[in-house]
Amino acid sequence: MSARLIDGAAIGAEIRAEVAAQVALLTAQGIVPSLAVVLVGEDPPSQIYVRSKAKACIAAGMHSEVITLPADTPGAELASVIDRLNADPRVHGILCQLPLPPQMHDDAILRRIDPAKDVDGFHPVNVGKLVLGDPSGFKPATPYGIQQLLMRSGIEPRGAHVVIVGRSNLVGRPLANLLSLPGAGGDATVTVAHSRTHDLAAMCRTADILVVAIGRAEFIKAAAVKPGATVIDVGTTRVNDATRPRGYRLAGDVAFDEVREVAGAITPVPGGVGPMTIAMLLVNTLQSASAQRAGR
Ligand SMILES: NC(=O)c1ccc[n+]([C@@H]2O[C@H](COP(=O)([O-])OP(=O)(O)OC[C@H]3O[C@@H](n4cnc5c(N)ncnc54)[C@H](OP(=O)(O)O)[C@@H]3O)[C@@H](O)[C@H]2O)c1
Repeated sequence: MSARLIDGAAIGAEIRAEVAAQVALLTAQGIVPSLAVVLVGEDPPSQIYVRSKAKACIAAGMHSEVITLPADTPGAELASVIDRLNADPRVHGILCQLPLPPQMHDDAILRRIDPAKDVDGFHPVNVGKLVLGDPSGFKPATPYGIQQLLMRSGIEPRGAHVVIVGRSNLVGRPLANLLSLPGAGGDATVTVAHSRTHDLAAMCRTADILVVAIGRAEFIKAAAVKPGATVIDVGTTRVNDATRPRGYRLAGDVAFDEVREVAGAITPVPGGVGPMTIAMLLVNTLQSASAQRAGR
């Protein structure tokens, strides 16, 4: 039997509508939530992501500022742009689209962003708050979006064995923290697998909820999935495809056609995790603007 499709586009739209309603209330009180996105260089996928983020902000009634800098911008110049945004009370959220060019040192730049405006949730202060379960921090948008996908699809992490394949600081590790925290949307038993895991397929087959974030097109096959399990596919890899107008298609980390015959529920690529990431970025920007209003 074919798995139920988890529709990230529809759930993302629902969240964006909820955000828009809150933005309207804040705007009536004189605060327009605002997100500043810094893009360095001309990486085409990054340009697409930044455009989508700006479009989503505007559609939710937020203000969006995109700052584009040439790839050879000195690190000190980017730092002074961030300092200006940190000091500007009209800006509630700041993010630097990754990857940054090599001379920029991602870590130093991400640490320069005021943690109170770090809506990507990458600053060590926000990473620490996530680990501690302190709700005043920002949760990184992709793991936060995956948690919302599960909760809003009626898939309960509580007591479930979640296997996350991939241990990046962007997806796998923060997701493991979120889902293992006590309380709503958490209480899962989490295993984080990676390239050194012995017998990955056997490990994956123990999962009630399998999340795959490795960036390898269609790597997880049906044999690695327990019948009835929920499968969340985070991967987005461009695969050459001459039949598509752009000459490529986006592939997930999961062999969708065969896995959907075994799984109980599954996210498609595109239209699964991707739209949730943008929706949760808006949630974080709204959280920051609301905190400013509350004087925190
Ligand atoms: N849809 C979205 O919004 C969204 C957001 C973020 C990321 N993504 C996508 O998600 C994917 C992962 O992104 P990322 O930033 O987390 O990637 P990353 O930093 O490259 O990390 C990849 C992880 O996968 C593990 N891995 C690689 N090959 C493996 C294998 N054969 N078996 C087991 N583990 C393996 C690596 O293990 P080691 O640590 O052992 O090397 C690493 O932990 C990418 O396709 C990215 O484009 C999508």
